[in-house]
Order: sequence, then C-alpha cells, then structure tokens
Amino acid sequence: MADDQKTLTTSTGAPVENDTHTQTAGWPGPSLLQDVHFIDKMAHFDREVIPERRVHAKGAGAYGVFEVTHDVTQYTRAKFLSEVGKKTEVFLRFSTVGGERGSADTERDPRGFAVKFYTEEGNYDLVGNNTPVFFIRDPLKFPDFIHTQKRDPRTNLKSPNAMWDFWSLHPESLHQVTILFSDRGIPANYREMHGFGSHTYMWYTDAEHYVWVKYHFKARGGFKTLPAAEAERLKGADADHATRDLFDNIEQGNFPVWDVSVQIIPSEEARTYRYDIFDVTKTVSQKDYPLIPIGTLILNRNPENYFAETEQSAFAPSNFVPGIAPSFDKMLQGRLFSYADTHRHRLGANHHLIPVNNPKNSGGANYQRDGAMMTGSNGGRGPNYYPNTFGGPQVKSDISIPQLSVIGAMGRQDYTHPNSDFEQPGILYREVMTEEKRAILIDNIVGALGGAIKRLQYRQAALFYLVDEDYGTRVAKGLGLDLNRVIELSRLSQEERVQATLDDEAFKE
Ligand code: HEM
Repeated sequence: MADDQKTLTTSTGAPVENDTHTQTAGWPGPSLLQDVHFIDKMAHFDREVIPERRVHAKGAGAYGVFEVTHDVTQYTRAKFLSEVGKKTEVFLRFSTVGGERGSADTERDPRGFAVKFYTEEGNYDLVGNNTPVFFIRDPLKFPDFIHTQKRDPRTNLKSPNAMWDFWSLHPESLHQVTILFSDRGIPANYREMHGFGSHTYMWYTDAEHYVWVKYHFKARGGFKTLPAAEAERLKGADADHATRDLFDNIEQGNFPVWDVSVQIIPSEEARTYRYDIFDVTKTVSQKDYPLIPIGTLILNRNPENYFAETEQSAFAPSNFVPGIAPSFDKMLQGRLFSYADTHRHRLGANHHLIPVNNPKNSGGANYQRDGAMMTGSNGGRGPNYYPNTFGGPQVKSDISIPQLSVIGAMGRQDYTHPNSDFEQPGILYREVMTEEKRAILIDNIVGALGGAIKRLQYRQAALFYLVDEDYGTRVAKGLGLDLNRVIELSRLSQEERVQATLDDEAFKE
C-alpha cells in the first residue's frame, strides 16, 4: 500500500467505510464475526512483534556512500575497491550489545558497527564493533558469555556476579574489559566514534596471492565519550540520545564521515608475527603494520521506516564478495554460521528479499526456491536444478579463493601462541592511557566490580595486577581488598587462583 494512497483500505486493498466503530448486533450488543475489517486490523496488530536480535537488539541505521580514495588493487580483486573514485551505496547499523530493543543508548557496552556494501558482486557485510578486540576467542563460549551479560534466570536483573565470574575465568577478556571500563566504554554518540572490523580477514587477487587485512574506520569528528555520571543522567533524561543524535544530524545535513584504512599483513609473515593475528583478543601493532588509507564513508540518508529498514536489516559476516574471504580466526568462523542462522529464525528463509537486504546491485540468481514469504519471481519458469542445459545461472570459475594447506590433528585445539593475555592490556594501561584516563578506568572498574561478591573481586583484582602492578593495586585499594592476598593470588596459575578463591574461607563474604 502506497503511503500517499488517499483511501483507507484493508490489507487486501478493499476500501474501508468506517474505522471507528466495530460492528455489533444491536446496541450495545456483542461484536460480530463478520466485521472482517476489525479482524484484519487486530490480527495484524497481534503479530506485529518479531524476535529481537539475540544481541545488539537496540540500534539505529542510516544509508550512505563508501568511496575509494586509494588504489588497493594489488591486494584484492573486489570490484567495489577496484578504482579510485568508485562509489558504493552502504547501509550502516550502530547498536549497543547487551540491552533489549528498548534499552538505553548510554550503557557501558561495546557499540556495533555493521556495514552493508551493496556491491555489483553481491552484498558485502563487515560486521564490526567500536573496539578492535573482543572478550573471548572461541565461539563455543559466546552463548555463555552473552548469558552473563543478559538477565539473571531467577531475578531477571543484570548480574555483576555472573559478569565478573565469567571475565575472571577468562583472562583473555582483560584487553576488552580494560577498553570497556575506560572512558571509551560509553561513546558520546554513534557519529563520533571509530569502528573496527576486529577480526583479521583475507584479501586476495587470484587463487595464488593473498594478504591478511584488518579494517579501521576513523570518525572525522574524533572519538567522543561520555563521563559515567553524564551517561547515568542521560539514561533517565533521554535514553535514546544516540539514536536521536544520528537521525537529527543526518536530517539536518550534518553527515558523519569516517576515513577508512586497513592494516595489511603479508601472508608469509602471519605465522611468525609476535602476536597471533587470528586471536580477536589481540591487536596488530600499527608500528609493525601501519594504517593504509583506502576510502571514506559518509552517512547521508535516514531510512524512511525504522522497522522495514533498520529492524529488518540483516548483517552476516558470511556475506563476502570475490576478493575477500574469512581468516582462520575461530570466532569469525563461528560467526559465519550464527548470523545467517539467526536471520532465518528472526526474519525467515527469504530474508534476503527484504529490500534493505536485497543484493540490489548484483541481482542474484540461483537454484534456491520457495520458502515462506517468497516475494520475488522465485526463478520464474527457469530450471530449478544445477547443472542444466536450459540456460540457468552458471558458476564463475575464475574467482576461486586461494587454497591454503592445513596440517595437523583434527580435534579441539587450544590457542598455543606464546603471547600473553596480560601484555597488550598492560601496554594500553601504561603507554596509551594518560594518568587522567587511568584514574577514570580505575574508578569505573571499582564501581562495577564492587557490585560482585568478594571472591570474584579478589580473583579479578589479581588478574589486573598481572596486567600491571599499579593497575591491580589501585583496583584492590579502591575495593578495600587486602593487597597482599591479591598479590598472592596473582602468583598462582589461573586454575590454582580459581580454586583458591573457592576454597579459602577468607574470600567468603
Ligand atoms: C549481532 C552472534 C561476535 C558484532 C549478532 C547477532 C548474533 C551474533 C546472533 C544477532 C544478529 C541478528 O539478529 O541480525 C555472534 C557470535 C559471535 C559474535 C556467535 C562470536 C562467536 C561478534 C564480534 C563482533 C560482533 C566479535 C564484532 C567484531 C556484532 C554486531 C551485531 C551483532 C555489530 C549487530 C548487527 C546488526 O546491526 O544487525 N551477533 N556475535 N559480534 N554482532 Fe555478533
């Protein structure tokens, strides 16, 4: 139904003669089943709610343009990156992670930064965050991790005990936890924050030549943040402030811009590099692999309808185009399954036909047929099997992805890279943060960790001590913990530390 249609109609297009009074038998009288307009209207209302995203439920989206500014054809054959000056339409959705669809924009939480590039070779989705790292590095742990960020099964309240229990059982989370509780933990809005692809991806030019790549989106307006107290105030005053800020600025023509760059890691250097580039809890040093500019991204158009476009948008890290492929990063590999899977549940088997998700610049032709809500031509009268000799779509064999050799035993493998989980958060604490930022970090951690039980406070403080003695000492002091006990705990192995905080009477409340 067109928005400008003058006559009110039923969902099947018949004019409605009265939209004020339900039909009844006499006055006041019982209602009549023959009031099909009432039934049509109410039945649709009863079905208005679809499942919210399991994570990143609260978000805001906008359309824009990505423009290539530097030649990268030596690294990738992706057509949308093939020429300086080339422009590709994008849809970008920002989000918070843990809260429900109506939760506040000011939560201390990573922000989602999901970009859909509508390229002529299909939609390319880069589903990143505003932080370069993540809390965990094995997707098997993701459901557990998210359960600790969501509500307690009994109280239906957020649970500091679950959060800090999980984090303190996973030292690999220290890097992201340190970022989360820093001033960057609460961005001031969606326009003035950076974005990261976080994982390492593959770029290739042909079946032989490839590099590893990490994406960076730097907001022209800088990375603006909110002090914790101001965020608390805003939560009450305007819980949707970042959604409003994005919409209003775009509406007023104040279009946000990001400079997009990549780090390129030559394929042969990956195995010997001092950090594991396939471990998403680690960054790759920009001193070793400096940022190479590739383009600009501008957001310049608000969606016309929030539900149709933003809520129904579906981003999947598995949506690649020729020239870009996944890396060995286990988290990324897990995500390759999870997103399209949840889209089939949240939006249905034919979610790619929803206009915001449609590969509008490449068309799309295959042998998938039918399914709920098939609103396309469904392949028309063409053959529905491959191969065929009746003119159906053919494969394009010249776009093969490099075939990498893999040697080793099949099974559940642990991360074996020698770099420690304490090193990078330590560098962040000592070398990147100013004293003012360190003080903010400690304050935020003491406030949040203070809500957990004592044994978890001790276990986590010991981990911070391992990151940096000053860091752990200040957290311990802020929480009123016995520093000697924290230091003792820091000297144990992770298994011993966990056991000690369970066994020792002194850690009980
Ligand atoms: C959303 C799973 C890790 C960024 C989602 C959704 C799921 C999910 C199920 C909801 C999607 C939807 O309903 O459309 C996972 C799993 C992960 C993982 C299983 C790890 C194994 C990550 C990481 C990042 C990330 C590491 C960032 C680097 C996002 C973003 C969204 C999202 C930005 C929102 C997309 C949108 O705006 O629609 N994730 N996630 N996730 N995830 Fe993840």
